Amino acid sequence: MHFLNRLWAGALVVLLGSSYSNASPGPIQLLGRDHSQTRVIAGVTIPDTPVVRAAQAYARAHADDMTYNHVMRSWLFGAIIISRSKDSVAIDPEVHAVAALLHDLGWDNTGELVSPDKRFEVDGALAAWNFIESSVHNGTIHSHDWDDDRKWLVWDAIALHTTPTIFAYKQPLVFLTAAGINADFHGPESDLSGLITWNDYYQVKAAFPRLDLASGVSKIICGFARNKPATTYDNFMMQFGIRYVANYSQNSVGHLGIDEVENALPN
Ligand SMILES: *[C@@H]1O[C@H](CO)[C@@H](O)[C@H](O)[C@H]1NC(C)=O
Ligand SMILES: *[C@@H]1O[C@H](CO)[C@@H](O)[C@H](O)[C@H]1NC(C)=O
Repeated sequence: MHFLNRLWAGALVVLLGSSYSNASPGPIQLLGRDHSQTRVIAGVTIPDTPVVRAAQAYARAHADDMTYNHVMRSWLFGAIIISRSKDSVAIDPEVHAVAALLHDLGWDNTGELVSPDKRFEVDGALAAWNFIESSVHNGTIHSHDWDDDRKWLVWDAIALHTTPTIFAYKQPLVFLTAAGINADFHGPESDLSGLITWNDYYQVKAAFPRLDLASGVSKIICGFARNKPATTYDNFMMQFGIRYVANYSQNSVGHLGIDEVENALPN
């Protein structure tokens, strides 16, 4: 399973080191309300607030074990990157936690959050937005703590996490959320930040076993290529359709970006 090819990964390591270079040097600056409440999971210190606990419970309720363990590891790797980064970027650890924990709601194994017509990243982003709004409505969080800017950060981080050619140039939180997720695929070898060690990897993996991540993800993506193929034609999921789904390629003809361009109106 390669979300990224290694060349991109190499370029992005450079990018993480340089893209914020116009900011003054110093450690990551934490945004958000209250950083005193923390707890430790698998040796990693993470923010402990009501919305983070609710997001974790929501992720657990809408994921199979493989997916839940993947989002937990992705969160913890992101938290490690945040804690070690020397880049001077403003990161809100609570927003990161919510985005990382909810990034695969579009795979919801109850089916409740899965649309018939939207790619899974957008289903996830919309479900996370709704989760935040319902948490405001039921009093878990206050609306003034979750303005639209924070909600859009979560939305962007989830919607773009499989698109490195875009997320690399978005807000630092969007990039970092994706970096944590990415680190889960190949450990330090695909860690865009260069800050995750094999020791971290084994420690987090011991607490949240991988449960055949590669084949589990492949099966889920093939399901989308089979059941809502139109959501896969403009992105990485198409590769799964071409390789594994019967008649996928022939059914895609006429619905691709290339068809749009080549069949454009003449002069
Ligand atoms: C409030 O809503 C959130 C998000 O839907 C949910 O996770 C949480 O359990 C709810 N809390 C209560 C007390 O109903
Ligand atoms: C694939 O296409 C062939 C020929 O059009 C058809 O006979 C077959 O049933 C299709 N298979 C699936 C799984 O759609």
